Amino acid sequence: MSEKENTSLEKIVSLCKRRGFVFQGSEIYGGLAGTYDYGPYGNDLRHNIKQYFWQKFVLDREDVYGMSTAILMPRKVWDASGHTSEVGLNDPLVECKICHERVRADQQEVISDHEKTHKNKKVEWTEPVKFNLLVETKLGSSEKSSTEVNLRGEITQGVHVNFKNILDSMHPKLPFGIGQIGKAFRNEITPRDFLFRQREFEQMEIQYYIKPEETEGDRVYDYWKDEAFSWYLSLGFSKENLRWRQHASDELAHYAKDAWDIEYNTSFAGWKEAWGVHHRKDWDLKRHSQYSGVDLSYYDEEKKERFIPWDIECSGGVDRAVLFVLLEAYTEDVLSDEPRVYLKLKPSLAPIKVAVFPLLKNKPNLVTKARGVYQALKKEIPQVMWDDNGNIGKRYRRQDEIGTPFCVTVDFNTLTDETVTVRYRDNGLQDRLHINDLAAFLKEKLK
Ligand code: GAP
Repeated sequence: MSEKENTSLEKIVSLCKRRGFVFQGSEIYGGLAGTYDYGPYGNDLRHNIKQYFWQKFVLDREDVYGMSTAILMPRKVWDASGHTSEVGLNDPLVECKICHERVRADQQEVISDHEKTHKNKKVEWTEPVKFNLLVETKLGSSEKSSTEVNLRGEITQGVHVNFKNILDSMHPKLPFGIGQIGKAFRNEITPRDFLFRQREFEQMEIQYYIKPEETEGDRVYDYWKDEAFSWYLSLGFSKENLRWRQHASDELAHYAKDAWDIEYNTSFAGWKEAWGVHHRKDWDLKRHSQYSGVDLSYYDEEKKERFIPWDIECSGGVDRAVLFVLLEAYTEDVLSDEPRVYLKLKPSLAPIKVAVFPLLKNKPNLVTKARGVYQALKKEIPQVMWDDNGNIGKRYRRQDEIGTPFCVTVDFNTLTDETVTVRYRDNGLQDRLHINDLAAFLKEKLK
């Protein structure tokens, strides 16, 4: 019987390190807070999630183009987008009057944790001040000639500043969208909760441009909310662990007329934001038109009129998706009287799809046969792994822990009847299949 445990974040962090999913950034130098490095399995899981997004939101559609824009952008872009302003990308910050450490004023848990570090002293805090999260750097060879630029705080602006380039090169008709996946950077004051709040992270977004009409805006907004929710759900979540939450008027981003978040019910901190759908109206294109002096309007051939389109945005965090998928998949159960940990990943997202073993490592005829099965399968399913280390039970457990949905074992029967066993991760049951049917069978299951 399989029971979904109330998974602690520590268990995920530990599995990620132990099994090569995710490591602390620059770990051997003490680690850089808010940065993480993806190891082989984590990199593949993340890649599979991004690929799945791209397939559904860009490749499967006729009305969405893909883009990849620069991370470095001049300050003027962020002045135009409003991110440098008082209402922009800011967090409220308070300073401890004893040690001068600064923490987020709106994170009570962080404040309490800090106060505990000054054991018998009463901690006093300064009034909150706004702290801008944009990461700054300079480009150029000398102090005098260098230019101040920002690492983008959201990938969105790279798309908006290219609106005219897309109109002039692709000649799209409204409505149309532009999709992008890429890194964003925020100088988070208290990066925390592993991949949840980082300083360097990845986003996957669609900016969908429409005619500036209220009814059309509402219809398209609802449409993208539905698309986003069903896609997120299809990453393998149970329905009761996802919900919608509308932003209250005082928490709306400066660019948003309305905003809804898909939230995931995390085992470590309750409901947390996974994805946002934002009605950005004409905020970005209008501001970039004003600040750049370049006309970013659209000419409607049919109605013979020119206007600034509205933008409905879908914006999801890639790393949050990785974290939430791992939390949802992490399962502890007892199989064949032994406790085990396994990742109940959707097969198409699993980093390794199939592992191939010879029953015994020291029988050359079994090893040769199994190598043949492995090599033939690898041509059909690239994410196949060879493992002949330790006994068969240990190999199954190792694969379970990284979420491999199928294990294929070549045994003595294979030598005579050309059949192998296929063992299923979630229940440990096995089928026997002819080698010739193996690739087609597994490919069907991996869809
Ligand atoms: N373009 C809109 C935008 O950036 P956002 O709500 O600030 O909106 C979108 O970010 C998504 O990016 C969030 O729903 C979240 O999944 C992810 N995200 C935001 N800040 C993050 C951080 N510090 N670490 C990891 N992911 C983050």
